[in-house]
Amino acid sequence: MPKTFFITTAIDYTNSAPHIGHAYEKVLADVIARYHRLKGESVFFLTGADQHGQKVQQSAEKAGISPNDFVRSTTDKFIDLWKKLDVKYDAWAETIDPRHKQVVQGMLQRLFDEGQIYKDKQSGYYSVRQEQFLTDKERGADGEFGPEWGQVEFREEENYYFKLEQHKRWLLNMIDKRSKTERPFVIPDFRETELRNAVEKLSGDLCISRPKSRLNWGIELPFDSDYVNYVWFDALTNYISFAAYNPKIDKYESQPQEFLEKWPALQIIGKDILIPAHGIYWPIMLHALGFPDEAMPQLLVHGWWNLGGAKMSKSAGNIVDPNALADKYGAEALRYYLMSDIATGKDAEFSEERLLTRYNSDLANSLGNLLNRTLNMSGRYCGSGLANREVDDEKLNEWSTTKSLDIDARYRHGMESFDIDAALGWAIHFATFCNVAVETFAPWKLAKDANRKSLLDAVLYNLAESVRTIGILISPVLPKAAHGIFDQLNWKMELSGKEERFSLADAEWGKLPDGHVVGKPVPLFPRIEQ
Ligand code: ME8
Ligand code: MG
Repeated sequence: MPKTFFITTAIDYTNSAPHIGHAYEKVLADVIARYHRLKGESVFFLTGADQHGQKVQQSAEKAGISPNDFVRSTTDKFIDLWKKLDVKYDAWAETIDPRHKQVVQGMLQRLFDEGQIYKDKQSGYYSVRQEQFLTDKERGADGEFGPEWGQVEFREEENYYFKLEQHKRWLLNMIDKRSKTERPFVIPDFRETELRNAVEKLSGDLCISRPKSRLNWGIELPFDSDYVNYVWFDALTNYISFAAYNPKIDKYESQPQEFLEKWPALQIIGKDILIPAHGIYWPIMLHALGFPDEAMPQLLVHGWWNLGGAKMSKSAGNIVDPNALADKYGAEALRYYLMSDIATGKDAEFSEERLLTRYNSDLANSLGNLLNRTLNMSGRYCGSGLANREVDDEKLNEWSTTKSLDIDARYRHGMESFDIDAALGWAIHFATFCNVAVETFAPWKLAKDANRKSLLDAVLYNLAESVRTIGILISPVLPKAAHGIFDQLNWKMELSGKEERFSLADAEWGKLPDGHVVGKPVPLFPRIEQ
């Protein structure tokens, strides 16, 4: 069965509008998905919105509208942003979707029938204002619960629990078995270590319910209508419920083909939701449902964009709005910044000034300038008609075609290891290299000497070939610019606007035919003045 490259992101909370962290994660997934499409693979990219829960219920109450209307309007803000940022997903997961509810309920029922879910009584201190049970961690230095918790009372409550702890050994073994293989359970390495340490300390089971008197904006437990499911069974399940998983079929191998050809996924998440949700609850849920070890997903854990050295938060008022940035600088400028100024897995400091600097130096001065002068000189010195000549010139032979600079291999290596900044860096490096070559060969001098016509032609051909290759390599990050480059090169015009226009196999040297006529230059990345 041909395997589909399946990629997911976290589904974003819809209790408020999208921020730059959401945009980063979605663009990262989009770039990886586009890279795999560029390789000719079949890709299934799933993302969506996390719409249930306490916070949404509270936000809706505050706004004086129903939770349903509230999540519709916030969810649409996310959808609009993904459209604006050219995030091209294949399926959209909304947790209020009835099909999703059915899968969640089917899973809960099965685990309940198999004795993996049980009812138990919890008693303890409860904050009425925050609507949650408090533990000793919430006590202040004086041993008391602080004023932020409001009225605190002793309560007893019955809830449903999922048996987590009994799978602890299995989880440790699975992590170890996968570690140092082609497909570790968690990347990068240091996050795997963090997870392993957390699993070692795992104790107790997972409370998966809330009485409806406390929370009603959620999926009802199929075996007790006085309760709704609380958070994780609902949210995590999106990764399989929108990929045709059927909870009524016990045997993994008997799942629908539509599911088996996709799963397991590469799952992109931020560092805050690795432990315990994606690193502990999720694999244990899948394991309890009978997923074999080979069918455990892979977690790519990215870092955070900070502002002023601190985590962005609504209460600190330091949220960066991706919509405003895209409106001001364009979606491609924002995509480029988010992919080039952070190392996947690490944190980065968000800076609008850096966004501008990188745009002007890498895109306007380096790549944009290269395209512009290539087409200008082709127009001036060969009537825009390229001639692919064999010229034995030492300097020309040294010209770093994609081959001799090994750009293609380095780019692929970066992309395959999710080091988008590195891969992209090689494409821009190639453009910078070509700009230097223009100075070295000085076509304006060659044009004055009829004996050097062949060399001039060869230089112009090399430039156009290089620009064409760079267009392909940047296409996952800068799809619009890549189309702009192909349009101006007058290349594959029958596919103009279509994604099939680009293929990594075409990044091979020499594809522009002898006599190919290039177009006129149009500024691709106009400089942005501060
Ligand atoms: O956690 N920089 O939703 P969410 C980078 N609904 N990434 C960031 C970030 C930042 N400053 N802030 C948040 C949730 N993120 C749940 C997930 S999945 C079944 C349910 C990332 O809206 C964060 O790490 O709080 C997460 O991966 C994603 O944005 C959504 O965060
Ligand atoms: Mg969060």
